[in-house]
Amino acid sequence: MKFFIDTANLEQIEQAQNMGILDGVTTNPSLMAKEGIKGKEQIMQRYKDICNIVDGPVSAEVFATDYDGMIKEGEELAAIDPKITVKLPCTKDGIRAVKYFKSKNIATNCTLIFSVGQALLAAKAGATFVSPFVGRLDDICEDGISLVGDIVKVFRTYGLKTQVLAASIRHTNHILKCLQVGADVATCPLKAIEGLLNHPLTDKGLDIFIKDAAKMQ
Ligand code: E4P
Repeated sequence: MKFFIDTANLEQIEQAQNMGILDGVTTNPSLMAKEGIKGKEQIMQRYKDICNIVDGPVSAEVFATDYDGMIKEGEELAAIDPKITVKLPCTKDGIRAVKYFKSKNIATNCTLIFSVGQALLAAKAGATFVSPFVGRLDDICEDGISLVGDIVKVFRTYGLKTQVLAASIRHTNHILKCLQVGADVATCPLKAIEGLLNHPLTDKGLDIFIKDAAKMQ
């Protein structure tokens, strides 16, 4: 499973990149706004900066909700760097835009996916990634991980090439569950990725080794 980091924060992206485990980045308008980014120039600059740090795909979400607006914005975003994946909402216009970018060989991430039916339409239109939102389904007492697993099963059954990118990952256990249901990618906050490292026996064992190593100095 690939690891994307779900942030527009350059320090966190650098930290994940320096760990050597980063496969890509996802952003959305809320994550960009959280960084205090304002206006087109700063938005474009932030995507350039992110692309300069990471080696893999960088999802840049359009703000427009109509087809023409999505195409115009998506083309501008895609022109920033070949690493840019145009992120489009799973609406009728969004699906049409996925199809358009597929015809131009531009990668897309169809976002705000909350059902297998939505994922299927995005895949049929040629999306590179679909993003089912795990945490937001859990928030309303539905099972986000089951949705990821159901989409994986359907895509495997019908040989659909679209990658299942589990989004709205809130904690480390979500990542482990994504592995179990076969997600292709999980996009995660840095803290959730770092949580994979934690084990008390590692800390205890290291402490003993440090003490014994000191005896030999
Ligand atoms: C990323 O692609 C999604 O936009 C993001 O994971 C949503 O996360 P949230 O539900 O925690 O806002």
